[in-house]
Amino acid sequence: MDKRNNNGISRRTALKRMAMLMAGASCLGLPTLTSCDMETKKRIILYFTATGNCLYVARELADKHTELLSIPQMMKQKRYTFEADEIGLVYPVYGHMPPNMVREFINKARLTARYKFAILTYGNRKCCSVEIWDDISRKAGCAFDYITTMIMVDNWLPNFDMNEQIKIDKHIPESLDRITADINSHRRWHEPVTELERQQHAGFLKSSGVNPEVGFKMISQEAFAVTDSCIGCGICTEVCPRGNYTLTSTGVKTEGDCEFCFACIHNCPQKAIVFKQLKEVNPNARYRNEHVSLWSIKEANRQNKPTE
Ligand SMILES: Cc1cc2nc3c(=O)[nH]c(=O)nc-3n(C[C@H](O)[C@H](O)[C@H](O)COP(=O)(O)O)c2cc1C
Ligand code: SF4
Ligand code: SF4
Repeated sequence: MDKRNNNGISRRTALKRMAMLMAGASCLGLPTLTSCDMETKKRIILYFTATGNCLYVARELADKHTELLSIPQMMKQKRYTFEADEIGLVYPVYGHMPPNMVREFINKARLTARYKFAILTYGNRKCCSVEIWDDISRKAGCAFDYITTMIMVDNWLPNFDMNEQIKIDKHIPESLDRITADINSHRRWHEPVTELERQQHAGFLKSSGVNPEVGFKMISQEAFAVTDSCIGCGICTEVCPRGNYTLTSTGVKTEGDCEFCFACIHNCPQKAIVFKQLKEVNPNARYRNEHVSLWSIKEANRQNKPTE
């Protein structure tokens, strides 16, 4: 999926490394086009991820001055105040809306920055997700200067076969190039939304019965079951951003308010977590972004102490 040069690295990665080298050389007194006098901007990127797409994007938009922070970890620490030159948010759209934790976070957060950007990843249909975020963030008193979407693998198991999704070229390097150029130049822009997209979202709300004020807020014991294939590895207890899974003497239990993020179902190595009410296109296919390790998903979402 990644466009690579002869050295096996992408063009954008090569450019990013070159910029970092030039900045380093300049600081050592070597002649370069940059200067140590240049203001170094501090960027904070806050992300929410279940299967790694948003973490990958957050990492790709980071430079050496960037602080990458997981929203579930910030909420666990009750940390809601952030100050930097630039603050970005990366999250997956669920029914074109943000995950509940992201809503909860933005309602409590105080983000102080000269430039605020939001990248919304999706897999197939973004509809008016940009307007939805604009509305939610404005109501929270935290308007964003730049909001855009980025298409990636769609991890929605009821409609998509992950083995097929990973074969589709979603032009990820091109999207990252576009977004990198935009945010580096502090572009103030909201990706336009069409009337058809607004109608499609309204149609989705009507047919699904999903409450737009809440989005996909589920109850995990009603949504998921654990089958006999479970080997008690404990991964689900660490990848759930709500901390809904526990290992008990009688097996794995899940309960609590659920984001419906699918971190548990996608990351279970035994495919022992199944939907109680929904059918899957391919129950044997699961997904995690190829650049993101299981450890990173645990690190991003873990609500309990590490088991290792
Ligand atoms: C509950 C749920 C709802 C989703 N709704 C949409 C949607 O409305 N439109 C869409 O294109 N993708 C949708 N997706 C796909 C994700 O937004 C997409 O795969 C995202 O990149 C996943 O990010 P992550 O890997 O960081 O978790 C949905 C996924 C889930 C789990
Ligand atoms: S991740 Fe899967 S196999 Fe591991 S404990 Fe949880 S349900 Fe069982
Ligand atoms: S139970 Fe599963 S879907 Fe629900 S919040 Fe936890 S990891 Fe996400």
